[in-house]
Amino acid sequence: MNPIQIAIDGPASAGKSTIAKILASDLNFVYVDTGAMYRAITLAAFQAGVKPEDEAGVTALLPDLTITFEPGEPVQRVFLDGTEVTEAIRSVEVTANVSAVSAYAAVREAMTALQRDIAAKGGVVMDGRDIGTTVLPNAEVKIFLIASVAERAQRRFKENQAKGMDTTLAELEVAIEKRDYLDSHREISPLKKADDAVELDTTGLSIDGVVAAVKDIIATKTNK
Ligand code: CDP
Ligand code: CDP
Repeated sequence: MNPIQIAIDGPASAGKSTIAKILASDLNFVYVDTGAMYRAITLAAFQAGVKPEDEAGVTALLPDLTITFEPGEPVQRVFLDGTEVTEAIRSVEVTANVSAVSAYAAVREAMTALQRDIAAKGGVVMDGRDIGTTVLPNAEVKIFLIASVAERAQRRFKENQAKGMDTTLAELEVAIEKRDYLDSHREISPLKKADDAVELDTTGLSIDGVVAAVKDIIATKTNK
């Protein structure tokens, strides 16, 4: 396949990163988990003793931050200034505060520039909230993945259980709905389906089922 841009957006725990990673591997494209970048900045703020609600403090950290990725199984490995933070960026504390940090103008500007730089190098599957609307508005394929809140909480619950994380289904539902609300209502590049994105409701679909449906959409969009 020609090196195209595939944008996968959607609310929390819709399966974006799982699907994007499989697609990138099958197509031999680069996978970019933009949520991991916002999570890494949130973690960096905690490590520096800067409160997530301190916009000036978070902004001041940006010039000295280096976020890098390495391929890994089952998830891509993430490094903050050379130290692995793959697990640390998924903590309940980071998850609860990432929407505040990701709403800041300077944070979005820096991450959007970084994401575009990576995408300029070749075929890419990028997942996030504003990829189809803002980061890669000319992406050849745009998918908006959704699923019911109950199913998304259930998926995350199983994942957390497997990691030994102590969260309840009810807590996860509340946290997911809160984050979706904040992400959809922020001023700069909110979570929103791009006009030319294809919405795919994955409620009740297996991972394989979603991958197959997404591949059909790609084939239609690229006439292959
Ligand atoms: O994996 P999960 O759905 O829990 O979230 P994520 O993709 O890791 O994203 C974490 C947070 O980063 C989101 O809730 C947004 O606040 C922010 N984010 C964003 O603002 N823009 C993106 N392109 C990706 C993530
Ligand atoms: O990236 P995002 O937050 O949208 O979701 P994810 O981290 O890819 O997926 C959240 C969880 O749902 C993971 O544990 C996936 O294995 C699981 N999942 C699933 O059970 N069925 C799907 N169709 C998609 C994802």
